Amino acid sequence: MAEFIHNAWYVGALSHEVAGDALFARRLLDLPILFYRTGAGTPVAMLDRCPHRFAYLSKGRRIGDAMECVYHGLRFGADGQCTRSPYQESPPANAVVRTFPLIERHRMLWIWMGDPPLADPAAIPDHSHMDVAAMRPLIWHVKFAGNWQLGNDNLMELTHLFWLHTGTIGGWKADAGATPGETYSARTDEQGRVQSRTFVPDIERPSVFHNGVPAGVPYDQWNDTEWVAPANMKFTMVARPAGQDGEDASYMVQSHCITPETATTSHYFSGFSRIFDLDGDEADDERFISFFRGIFEREDGPMMADIEAQMGTSDLMALNPVILPRDRGAILVRRLVTRLIAAENNGLQHAA
Ligand code: FES
Ligand SMILES: [Fe+2]
Repeated sequence: MAEFIHNAWYVGALSHEVAGDALFARRLLDLPILFYRTGAGTPVAMLDRCPHRFAYLSKGRRIGDAMECVYHGLRFGADGQCTRSPYQESPPANAVVRTFPLIERHRMLWIWMGDPPLADPAAIPDHSHMDVAAMRPLIWHVKFAGNWQLGNDNLMELTHLFWLHTGTIGGWKADAGATPGETYSARTDEQGRVQSRTFVPDIERPSVFHNGVPAGVPYDQWNDTEWVAPANMKFTMVARPAGQDGEDASYMVQSHCITPETATTSHYFSGFSRIFDLDGDEADDERFISFFRGIFEREDGPMMADIEAQMGTSDLMALNPVILPRDRGAILVRRLVTRLIAAENNGLQHAA
């Protein structure tokens, strides 16, 4: 059974990772992919494999917008067509490199690795908060040694903040799980997205970390999560003075997009924009990024690597796990993913 959903938009790279004339190679859905920008700045994604003897094209060199293979010199245009074969008049008809639909949006390069005719740009998840320069968006990439669905499990079950992350971003609730009036809901909407909401009324510190609000005032807080298949999530965190409809005291939107590297390793593209701490400089941005990257690399990443080793399968439900009330969103996602993979394996066309 396939491990991946192919007919879907994935983040293949961050816009800033594919810059200038440089070649950028990354494994996605267990295929080697080469990214670069044409002279006009248009990003390109092609299979990083020469169709002659299967050298990595990324080890070759650029000739204008074309790639020349380092092994025997076949040259391919940005559309994957061979434009030159050194020892014959015209290249063989099958000298073609597969290229992939690629759209640059929200500071990310979205790649479609399924049937090209199904690639509808309108289906790219909305992460437009990353476009709001006034909210000082930041975005970065890390990896983890686990199946991509462990990323969904991790991000759809945020109670782990108060246990796994107690020493970093999760220590702000004295008695986790017992805040009076706290509610949680999760549902699948008409578009096949999973929406979950945690509402925490009347708390003193309305965030998982410092967010610019004064201490000593009670706040109501909403944490909304929106999941779009296969593994693209957006968190919206809002805090307001308790019991008031007035202006947001704090507002932050986070992007969490997972793309499989292999069946057991994954890319994690993470970023946020916010309405607080906006007057810092680039050094402050770097500190933010290394703080969050460090938390993931020291806390979530090792946990997912452990779980990958313990499970030995991507089929969580086959292991008959204990299900807790706050698992609802994660379980809805697991079920949808199972259905999408089954549909693709059955050859059904769908726009995931
Ligand atoms: S492997 Fe690329 S030209 Fe031979
Ligand atoms: Fe976490």
